[in-house]
Amino acid sequence: MSATELKCRECAARYPLEARYVCEQCFGPLEIAYDHSALGDDVSALRRRIQAGPQNIWRYSDFLPLDAPPGPSGRNSSRVGLPAGCTPLIRADRLAERLGLGEVWVKNDTHNPTHSFKDRVVAIASQRARELGFDTLACASTGNLANAVAAQAAALGMPSYVFIPADLEEQKILATGVYGTHLVKVAGNYDDVNRLCTEVSGERENWAFVNVNMRPYYAEGSKTVAYEIAEQLGWTLPDRCVVPIASGSLFTKIAKGFSEWTELGLLDGDQPKMNGAQALGCSPVAAAYEAGADVCRPVKPDTIAKSLAIGNPADGPYALELARESGGGIDSVTDDEIRAGIRLLAETTGIFTETAGGVTTATLAKLAERGDIGADERVVLVITGDGLKTLDAVRGTFEAYEITPSFDDFEATVEQGARI
Ligand SMILES: Cc1ncc(COP(=O)(O)O)c(C=O)c1O
Ligand SMILES: [Zn+2]
Repeated sequence: MSATELKCRECAARYPLEARYVCEQCFGPLEIAYDHSALGDDVSALRRRIQAGPQNIWRYSDFLPLDAPPGPSGRNSSRVGLPAGCTPLIRADRLAERLGLGEVWVKNDTHNPTHSFKDRVVAIASQRARELGFDTLACASTGNLANAVAAQAAALGMPSYVFIPADLEEQKILATGVYGTHLVKVAGNYDDVNRLCTEVSGERENWAFVNVNMRPYYAEGSKTVAYEIAEQLGWTLPDRCVVPIASGSLFTKIAKGFSEWTELGLLDGDQPKMNGAQALGCSPVAAAYEAGADVCRPVKPDTIAKSLAIGNPADGPYALELARESGGGIDSVTDDEIRAGIRLLAETTGIFTETAGGVTTATLAKLAERGDIGADERVVLVITGDGLKTLDAVRGTFEAYEITPSFDDFEATVEQGARI
């Protein structure tokens, strides 16, 4: 494989590609390092190799940290587990028009097997977990990861333990338990759940916690969002991406995907401006951005965007650095703006997103209103989860007609517009 080692983001200490996530020297986070020299420098050949791959994330196996990925080298096994990815990129002209923007695209990651981008990260972490000999999958989740881990474990025939804050949306709880996982509701918020999972991970050596001891592998899955966007835009880069932030992993890894491919010559031009999106009720990264700080001060979340409710974001400092260096930014939006964002996206594109997508869409609207986006910019809005998982967010936001089954009543009530 082209992954060579784990490297500390802070002090550059190196470690073998095992289940390790924190640097022994400085406690910094570990990231995968690669040597892509074996791919050669024939860009056209490399593009053809990618395009000949399966219609899922395994087409990007050359850029993922697996020994024997179910990708180009072993196409017949590309249906192992629940393959994620290859989700639509939709040109959203009516949304652009409503916001007074030139060119807006929606990356619709609700099309994944459990309807969020988390299927991507879980696919990588679970395959690596099997390669390293783990027999059980686990996670600390704000909801979507719970769905993805429970489903992937079922697909792979592995037992799983999913830890969630007890007050998650009912849809997310039901869409997790159905897979036959051990569902553990913890009395506390996500940051409490995460602390507990770090402790359990130390005690259960045969468990792969996808976002704890497998985190460096898990995080690489988010790069595939960038690879797909670039491929779908005809091997070009967008000018700007608007991306939701919880831990900051998705946000930073999308940028890593674009820059890796640019270094390899697969893409040309300036890196996209990266705009992060948070809910005001849990906005440690947006607050640090506004204050000009390099680190985030932890907060206690209070927002309807529960999937983004991480008060102490692991990748916060890197998200801040990326927003500043790329010329983007990080904004936060209120719960009312989130509800309006969900409606705006639904009404203009036919895509029903969960609260995280409401955060992202509302942030795009805010950037447009502030005049931060140039008329000729090509903007990608990354929609990461499905509206059917957070139905309460749209309850009471529209009216319906109620009639008796009679034509007269239909005409009088509906067509003559007397709404109840
Ligand atoms: C729907 C959705 N979007 C975005 C995110 C943000 O992910 P990250 O923790 O990588 O910032 C999450 C995280 O749980 C999520 O569930
Ligand atoms: Zn270190």
